[in-house]
Amino acid sequence: MKFFVDTADVDAIAELNDLGMVDGVTTNPSLILKSGRDIIEVTKEICSIVSGPVSAEVVALKADDMIAEGRKLAEIAPNIAVKVPLTWDGLKTCKVLSSEGKMVNVTLCFSANQALLAAKAGATFISPFIGRLDDINLDGLELIGDIRQIYDNYGFDTQILAASIRTANHVTQCALIGADVMTAPPAVIKGMASHVLTDKGLDQFMKDWAKTGQKIL
Ligand code: G3P
Repeated sequence: MKFFVDTADVDAIAELNDLGMVDGVTTNPSLILKSGRDIIEVTKEICSIVSGPVSAEVVALKADDMIAEGRKLAEIAPNIAVKVPLTWDGLKTCKVLSSEGKMVNVTLCFSANQALLAAKAGATFISPFIGRLDDINLDGLELIGDIRQIYDNYGFDTQILAASIRTANHVTQCALIGADVMTAPPAVIKGMASHVLTDKGLDQFMKDWAKTGQKIL
C-alpha cells in the first residue's frame, strides 16, 4: 500500500520523506489555510521534495472554471494530481483533464456509486473519506471494501485512495481490505510506530542494562 501524507506542512513532509514514508502528498483548501501559505508557492515546494503524486485541489464549482484551475495547477510540476470534488461538474472536469493525460484525484467520495462514476470518468484516484462517514455513524471501512470489490469486478484501474484516516487502525484495515493508497496526517503515520508493549519492553531493557554497568560506546 502506498503512503500519502495529508498535509501542506513542508517540514513534516520532508521529515517523513527522508524516512521513505512518503509516496505522495494530498492537500485540500482546509490544509492550505492551515499552512498559512500561498497555494501555488507551497505546492511547488512540496513537488520539489516529493517525486510521487501531489494532489492540489480546484476551488471553482463550474466545470469550465474547474478545468481552467486544474490546468493552471498542473503547470506547477509534472507530478501534480488535480483534485476535484465528486460533483457532476467535477466528473466533467475529471473526464477532460484525464483525457489530456493529467492525473486526477476525485475527492469527497461517500458512496460506491460515486466511486463507480469517478472510475468511468477516468479518475486516477478516488478518495473515499472514512473518518467523516464514521463521524455520522456510517461505516467508512465498509465503503472501502465495496469499492474494492466493484473495481475488481470490472477491472477499473482507478486507485482507491483511502482518505480522512484518523487512526492507525484505519490504516491496518485499509491495508487488509486492499486500498491502493492511504493518506493520513503526519501524526497518524508517526503514531503507527507506537505500541504500549514496545514502551514497556524498552523500559525494562534500559533498567536491566543499567544494572550491567556496561557501555557499547
Ligand atoms: O484527505 C482528506 C482529508 O484531509 C480529510 O480528513 O480528517 O478532515 O476528515 P478529515
